[in-house]
Amino acid sequence: MTVELEGKKINYAHAGTGPCIVFLHGFLENLTIWDDFVAELVDDHKVIQVDLPGHGKTELFGSVHSMTLMASAVHTVLRHEGVQECVIVGHSMGGYVALEFCKTFGHMVKGLCLFNSSALPDTPEKKAERTQVAKILKRGYNHFVEEAIPHLFTAKNQEKLKDLIAELVREAKEIPVEGAIAATLGMRDRADSVAFLKTVKFPVLFVIGRQDPIIPFDKYKEQIFVNELINVYVSAHSGHMGFIEDRDGTFDSVKNFIDYAYE
Ligand code: MLT
Repeated sequence: MTVELEGKKINYAHAGTGPCIVFLHGFLENLTIWDDFVAELVDDHKVIQVDLPGHGKTELFGSVHSMTLMASAVHTVLRHEGVQECVIVGHSMGGYVALEFCKTFGHMVKGLCLFNSSALPDTPEKKAERTQVAKILKRGYNHFVEEAIPHLFTAKNQEKLKDLIAELVREAKEIPVEGAIAATLGMRDRADSVAFLKTVKFPVLFVIGRQDPIIPFDKYKEQIFVNELINVYVSAHSGHMGFIEDRDGTFDSVKNFIDYAYE
């Protein structure tokens, strides 16, 4: 399905009926990353998966895709689908987008799941690194993707999941380099959302990879205790890709959270 925002096409998938769940993918991913979870939820939920701007089959909007712009794209889809309320689940960059969505459209949110994601902004060092990454992407996109994607997994899983990782690399290479750069700069410029997290009135679930190389474990202590509505699942043997590396554990935690949010 597609819907337009600012004359650009946003691609999304929807299926099922019932309480609505919105799934947002991370950087260099597309909406299909959630297919496995969706297959088990679709019998009793309306499930929406969105290709974020510059990813999958959603068009480019500009040279920087702010998390706010991406959140507007998500809202455009939900309005088109007549969704009044949802639980929103975002992987990594998708979580940054979900946080921005909650800031503006919080009245629609029954629950927020930050899956291998964070409410903290980039450190000054990370911001500088993103600016460099944008340049590296321009020079050698395929090489970057081949290096970066395997390192999202623990060393053990890189070996065990070789074929699947090769498929993720292949899919990531289909993303236009401009989309990857625009998202990189959007992530660099994203806001600090910890103060916002303190104020939310709906339940939140952090799904954490104990060995996540992108969001180190110690970064969570600054954010998971700020609101008593926050729940946590820690996956001991996962890196940044919990839905693959600990499929059943993370699925159960997300499913239980959705049921709880809609109670
Ligand atoms: C992602 O997986 O979406 C990104 O790696 C997140 C990030 O770089 O902060």
